[in-house]
Amino acid sequence: LAIRFCADNPGLQNVTRLCHTKSAITVNGKFPGPRIVAREGDRLLIKVVNHVQHNITIHWHGIRQLRSGWYDGPAYIAQCPIQTGQTYVYNFTIVGQRGTLWWHAHISWLRATLYGPIIILPQRKASYPFPKPYKEVPIIFGEWWNAELEAVINQSLQTGGGPNVSDAYTINGLPGPLYNCSTNDTFKLKVKPGKTYLLRLINAALNDDLFFSIANHTLITVDADAIYVKPFKSNIILITPGQTSNVLLKTKNRSPNATFLMAARPYSTGLGTFDNSTSAGILEYEQPANSSSSTKIKNLPLLKPTLPSINDTSFAANFSKTFCSLANAQFPAIVPQRVQKRFFFTIGLGSSPCPKNKTCQGPSNVTKFAAFVNNISFTLPTTALLQAHFFGQSKRVYTTDFPKTPLFPFNYTGTPPNNTLVSNGTKVVVLPFNTSVELVIQDTSILGAESHPLHLHGYNFFIVGQGFGNYDPNKDPANFNLVDPVERNTVAVPSGGWVAIRFLADNPGVWFMHCHYDVHLSWGLGMALVVMDGKLPNQKLPPPPSDLPQLHEIRIF
Ligand code: C2O
Repeated sequence: LAIRFCADNPGLQNVTRLCHTKSAITVNGKFPGPRIVAREGDRLLIKVVNHVQHNITIHWHGIRQLRSGWYDGPAYIAQCPIQTGQTYVYNFTIVGQRGTLWWHAHISWLRATLYGPIIILPQRKASYPFPKPYKEVPIIFGEWWNAELEAVINQSLQTGGGPNVSDAYTINGLPGPLYNCSTNDTFKLKVKPGKTYLLRLINAALNDDLFFSIANHTLITVDADAIYVKPFKSNIILITPGQTSNVLLKTKNRSPNATFLMAARPYSTGLGTFDNSTSAGILEYEQPANSSSSTKIKNLPLLKPTLPSINDTSFAANFSKTFCSLANAQFPAIVPQRVQKRFFFTIGLGSSPCPKNKTCQGPSNVTKFAAFVNNISFTLPTTALLQAHFFGQSKRVYTTDFPKTPLFPFNYTGTPPNNTLVSNGTKVVVLPFNTSVELVIQDTSILGAESHPLHLHGYNFFIVGQGFGNYDPNKDPANFNLVDPVERNTVAVPSGGWVAIRFLADNPGVWFMHCHYDVHLSWGLGMALVVMDGKLPNQKLPPPPSDLPQLHEIRIF
């Protein structure tokens, strides 16, 4: 299957929202970007031509990239950026995944406007493990800033200031009627009565978890991150940046005398300011032919959904516990039962010294915000880790001494330590091929407890346990679910709590693991795993393609 992100289309496009027009980087002039529709087993060839004055890479979020890590996309991890005028053909096969994933730029914060759905249909003749929906509709959540993106990024990077507050959340790129000057930019879903619709939800927002609900309708979740789950009903969905989920919407048997608001609004336990506004779309029923249609629809009452309060942590915990994999004969859950390597990672926010001659907006004006895994704030290298690894130049680029446990243990959910300073480094964990790994990720309270969407490239993992407070290695493993845990690529590590994940390191390459809030990623909440080749030919990463962008040391922003 060949898909072309057309070379003759402009990269820059004027986009207007909330009465502000700005020039945005787009794919083929579209915002949000084009959708990719493929089937499980398809090979995708996607030619990316860079027509803008910024370095670019594209990441295929959640695609496993089995032995195709050269096409994974994160800048300076899997590849050097595609520079202005350059072309790179991403070339990968979808193996064992069906559902919804997405693609986005993976450099700086360019994914603010560079993102779109990846729809993976089951193989021909295969069917869904639920009744075939009448229609399928992608619903992709995003964030909109009136300001130029560069200014937004600079605030968080140069001054290390608090999270940048966007001006609106969006549904399929549209803020909706609850914002000023936005009524015409409203996503509308027109439905027929008595049908089932499959909504393909994607959270592409940069920095916010979102609640989503449709007034007077129940949703049935059937999949998470392109893996089927045991179906469950709920009125409200919580989705963290990076995650995707397919939900069934069964429409009412007769067209009701109302239209319905669908709404997305953040879940946040963090510090400081955030945008507590609501993006909305409209669910509109086709009216019977005899009713004088359009004027009538306008006059129908608009019903609104109720969403949890912004910091409803118990809703968040209960909702995430509801997910279990199908774990049946056709779709088994192959959970590693024995563990060869255990890791304990603390994640959170701290601070680092303010650069000379700058005023910083961090925890104090001599520090800026930094984020860490095990007290190390990740520094992006200036050459790609995967190239350095593959060509035996790793010593120049990274060190293999990433700590297995935190350097300074403390009561992670109790009184914060006095010293919030972190150290910087490009450190990795090296794993032999086929190691079975257990990783416990502990959220810390250093600058306030906050949930973090942790995303692992190149893998799905099983979420075998989660809880509040400090993880207890003597007690908690007894409650791990090793039977039907949900399998995902992104997990929301709960505010003031922990999660335990397991996976088999069967995909050789260099894989980024990071917080999917761009602000925390920029502050260093990430690290990389280097998974070595196995002995057999089909356990090795093949050499890179000839058009892989060259090693170079130019950075943007
Ligand atoms: Cu969707 Cu490394 O990210």
